[in-house]
Amino acid sequence: MLTSNIVVDRDFAIAPLDRHVFGTFVEHMGRCVYGGIYEAGHPTADAHGFRRDVLALTRELGATMVRYPGGNFLSGYDWEDGVGPKKQRPGRLDLAWGSTETNEFGTNEFTTWCQAAGVEPMLAVNLGTRGPDAARQLIEYCNHPGGTLYSDRRRAHGFEQPHAVKYWCLGNEMDGPWQICQKTAAEYGRIAQETAKVMRWVDPSVHLTACGSSNHAMPTYGHWEHEVLEHCFEHVELISLHQYFRNDADDIRTYFAVIEDLDAFIKEVAAIADAVAAKHRSRKRIMLALDEWNVWYKAHAPSDLRKPGWPRAPRLIEEVYNFEDALIVGGVLITLMNNADRVKVACLAQLVNVIGAIMTEPGGPAWRQSIFHPFAQASRFGHGTVLRANVQTDSYATAAHGRLDFLLASVLNDDTTGRATVFALNRGTADEMRLAVELRDLGQRRIVYASELHHADLKAANTLAAPHAVEPCEHRDVAIAGTVLKAKLRPLSWNVFVTEPA
Ligand code: AHR
Repeated sequence: MLTSNIVVDRDFAIAPLDRHVFGTFVEHMGRCVYGGIYEAGHPTADAHGFRRDVLALTRELGATMVRYPGGNFLSGYDWEDGVGPKKQRPGRLDLAWGSTETNEFGTNEFTTWCQAAGVEPMLAVNLGTRGPDAARQLIEYCNHPGGTLYSDRRRAHGFEQPHAVKYWCLGNEMDGPWQICQKTAAEYGRIAQETAKVMRWVDPSVHLTACGSSNHAMPTYGHWEHEVLEHCFEHVELISLHQYFRNDADDIRTYFAVIEDLDAFIKEVAAIADAVAAKHRSRKRIMLALDEWNVWYKAHAPSDLRKPGWPRAPRLIEEVYNFEDALIVGGVLITLMNNADRVKVACLAQLVNVIGAIMTEPGGPAWRQSIFHPFAQASRFGHGTVLRANVQTDSYATAAHGRLDFLLASVLNDDTTGRATVFALNRGTADEMRLAVELRDLGQRRIVYASELHHADLKAANTLAAPHAVEPCEHRDVAIAGTVLKAKLRPLSWNVFVTEPA
């Protein structure tokens, strides 16, 4: 039996959690848009062609924001192709994914879909083949009330009111050799700076994100962030991190270390941003946008990335997630919450079919992948201020990553509702864990929700044939006495306990 103790005190807080950390991502890639969120003719499609079953699952997932339209697709995208009468929209070769883009779905369809889904849009501007000029025109189209060429074009397209998009990304993964028009840090830093400048002149209220390295393993990592921020520091609020997690050793104990790797990545990028701030003699703090993250390693062969013949909406990177992937996603969510002072935006990539939390069949049903569940619970109960948890737990040794704690946890307190919530991941593979959480200064409490996600088979997955194989169920081994919550956690389990004043 493992033993873990947590003490939190209402007065010791990390930061209020920014709800934008429960964002997701929709790219024009594979079947994410076409056959995912949009499928005219589907039995559940509404008048816009939006799948109502996917809309309902998006709401249940608790996505707060959705990044669009890419991804690598972005760097060859002409936004003008996707607005105006559908019959006049051109087909285009998408060089990023070797597909044909019909442009049947574009910016206005996306903002309309966001309203239907109850999510906030995060748009990205193409800094691959395009630059500041296209960006200033797109933001004028989206956010300016009217009386100018592009704002009046939006009104003529049937959108009298501005879309008022607040969050914008300046390009995507611009250091990647796979990117259409890859750039050096100096090239990107300059163009991002000038793009940010003109976008803000059109709409001073926007939050702008500069591209960080494509991932932690990039040869450019570190130097890239520093040089890009040297150019953009005064002009952006956020810098992006992207990270996809792999289980190369096929060993859960080692796989869990990706969570600590992410934690280190977050702290390193924050440190680099603060070093630039110091050089600028500035108290401004650049915040972090983990605007692409997920597990992705099974559907990674060249044939998963593109199909011959420039098909429309082919099946690309349709990763099937299993129970152990859901544990990783749960652990990453805990880490995001515990870095609430710096991570203000995060987007699970992607929403549907393409490494998606939701899967669909054309003309058929939609279902929740295993990773859907920890995300939905974290979004549903992740409100308020993240408390600084003092955690005492046992640890285990790994060959490549040193010692890892068995328990990963985050505790939030929401003064507006009186709720305090504990998210706890038991990484012990064999042993149950006796957990005690002291919720100091929170008064007598009662448990209003207790759930565990566990499966005997790490490889169990939700599929079309068995969509409910991996699901959370009620946690029956938990009690609270005064301010101390006590629970027994199964080995390899993700647990959520919600308390309210008694
Ligand atoms: O999400 C799939 C791809 O992964 C995105 O297009 C790109 O930004 C990243 O490399």
